[in-house]
This record gives sequence, C-alpha cells and structure tokens, in this order.
Amino acid sequence: VEQSYIMIKPDGVQRGLVGEIISRFEKKGFKLTGLKLFQCPQELAEEHYKDLQSKPFFPKLIQYITSGPVVCMAWEGVGVVASARKLIGATNPLQAEPGTIRGDLAVQTGRNVIHGSDSPENGKREIGNLCCIL
Ligand code: GTP
Ligand code: MG
Repeated sequence: VEQSYIMIKPDGVQRGLVGEIISRFEKKGFKLTGLKLFQCPQELAEEHYKDLQSKPFFPKLIQYITSGPVVCMAWEGVGVVASARKLIGATNPLQAEPGTIRGDLAVQTGRNVIHGSDSPENGKREIGNLCCIL
C-alpha cells in the first residue's frame, strides 16, 4: 500500500494546529499508521532535506526544523502521496489555494507548517529511515 510521510513542522506544533491537520487527513479518508512527537536532531534534518543542501536557505531550514518538536506521521491509502500534496498546497503559502493546509493556515515559505513526501518511493524511504515510527 502507498504511504506518505507527513510531518507537522515546529511552527504547526507550537501554534496548536496538530488536531486540525490530522482531522483533514482523517476526513479525506486516509489511514494513520504511525505517529510520534519527535525532536529532530540536526543530522536527521540534514539527511531529510539533503536534496536542498546547496540552497542558500538550507541553514535556516535546518534551524527551523530543529527549533522544536515535530509530529511525524505515516499515512496510507491509494494515491496518498499526490493527494496529500494537494491537501497541503503550494510550498509558498501565499501561492497555496484557499482550502489547502498552507493556504488556510500559513503565510511564509520558511514557516509553512507541514511536510509531505513528493513520491511513493520517498514516502517509504522517509518513513523507514527518518523517524523509526513503523
Ligand atoms: P516539504 O514538504 O517540506 O518538502 O516542502 P515542499 O516539497 O513543498 O518544498 P521543497 O521540498 O522544495 O522545500 C522544502 C522546504 O524548504 C519547504 O517546505 C520550506 O519549508 C523550505 N523552503 C523552500 N524554499 C524556501 C525558500 O526559498 N526560503 C525559505 N526560507 N525556505 C524555503
Ligand atoms: Mg519537498
């Protein structure tokens, strides 16, 4: 079964958006198969975002992701990866459609509340390697 690694970032946890976000995935009809509150160490954050290593914002991104606890989740269902990306909305919350998580709940790219896997392969890899939730 297809799986997506969904992570509520530190701003989402601090702002009390955990219930709201889980509710949207539940109502859509996906199945929650793993969940943990987790303080992401620097090395794991760097591994998770290693494709963005050369970007100028990389140090800020690592600082952001490690700034407080995150909620790591595994969600499963047919087409969950692409569907989760639609529920989440565009990377820049100002470009995310109303009705999406980022469109409704965020303003800044550097504080965009949530991560979702970008392919089924990465979903499996992120759930297996990064958070040990399964
Ligand atoms: P994730 O689900 O978190 O992987 O976001 P994404 O797939 O929509 O975007 P991408 O993988 O390209 O970037 C990962 C994360 O890096 C984004 O969600 C942002 O938190 C951050 N990021 C991307 N671009 C910028 C930028 O231009 N400035 C800043 N400050 N952060 C950025
Ligand atoms: Mg991404």
